[in-house]
Amino acid sequence: MTDVLELDDIRLALPHRGGDRTLLRGVSLSVAPGEALGLVGESGSGKSMTLRTVLRTEPRGARVTGRVTLDGQDVRGLGASALRRLRADTLAMISQNPRAALNPVLRVSQFLVEGLCDARGESREVATRRARDLLAQVGIADVDRCMDSYPHQLSGGMLQRVVIAAAVAGSPRLLLADEPTTALDVTTQSEVMAILDEQRRERGMAMLFVTHDLELASAVCDRIAVLYAGEIVEIATPDQLHSAPRHPYTRLLLDSRPSLTARTPVLPVIPGRPVAAYEVGDGCAFAARCPWSAPQCADGEVTLAHHADRAVRCRRSDDLAGELAHATDPEATA
Ligand SMILES: Nc1ncnc2c1ncn2[C@@H]1O[C@H](COP(=O)(O)OP(=O)(O)OP(=O)(O)O)[C@@H](O)[C@H]1O
Ligand code: SF4
Ligand SMILES: [Mg+2]
Repeated sequence: MTDVLELDDIRLALPHRGGDRTLLRGVSLSVAPGEALGLVGESGSGKSMTLRTVLRTEPRGARVTGRVTLDGQDVRGLGASALRRLRADTLAMISQNPRAALNPVLRVSQFLVEGLCDARGESREVATRRARDLLAQVGIADVDRCMDSYPHQLSGGMLQRVVIAAAVAGSPRLLLADEPTTALDVTTQSEVMAILDEQRRERGMAMLFVTHDLELASAVCDRIAVLYAGEIVEIATPDQLHSAPRHPYTRLLLDSRPSLTARTPVLPVIPGRPVAAYEVGDGCAFAARCPWSAPQCADGEVTLAHHADRAVRCRRSDDLAGELAHATDPEATA
């Protein structure tokens, strides 16, 4: 089946002090119809910038190369009106801050009903009924009150439900979700995530889900792509990643999750500091932090090697397979 979304060798650089600053170093990934792909990585690794190349909302002056194919169309080559149509018909975006997605002077009813009338040409009566149904489906108990409210009268969790209702209304082929629950309090986070997951599955929509939380991605995604310094270092299913990670960074991400049951008093950390894409030189981008780094890691470009249904960017992944299947000793990497 043809993928809904395909990113092929996306490179992005921004002008910086008379030169260029590289932020994405060749991101390639695909999302199948109905599939949820998690894009996981530390702050600054390029997760949001990757999404922005799909929406074509990267910062002014950005130089982007590579191909983005969405529903068979070459997104980067589309003219303004075709791009608007593609965004309206095929895509929906849910970001971290629902307040930014809503007009502060419109009541929820106006926001939803006008959106449905514009996008689907529905009458106000039909659109109002659908808006009410959608709010009930995203778990809003008092639909009347919510419809009558302005954004400032609703909590972040309620607002994110409204944004999800608007996003799924047209059953777009692809949802782009950028840390959709990070700004919410912890209890609300899991409720909102469960609603998003349920709506996506019921409507068979694909999703590219950006998060720094490997556990959350594992719970709601079919596959996970791990991003480091503007490039993907591993793609696998959550089960594969947990039972047998093939990249040292994935192993260390798994080991550095806080655990209530861990017996060790040492909080495991990934050694060193995250490297920005523009700081990467020759050889493996992770070498400076990698406990398994060897002389062969230092030169040339380390490519993403595909093995059956997964992919890894590490020169030593075959040698290390057995070792990476087990948690590291936190004393050794602290
Ligand atoms: N408008 C901008 N101008 C210049 N640099 C930017 C801009 N936006 C992001 N960057 C830089 O691009 C890199 C990737 O940023 P991006 O926002 O994609 O990271 P991220 O993985 O989404 O991180 P976070 O988890 O913090 O949201 C970072 O080094 C960031 O500082
Ligand atoms: S290529 Fe070498 S430095 Fe890079 S992750 Fe693999 S073992 Fe570590
Ligand atoms: Mg981000």
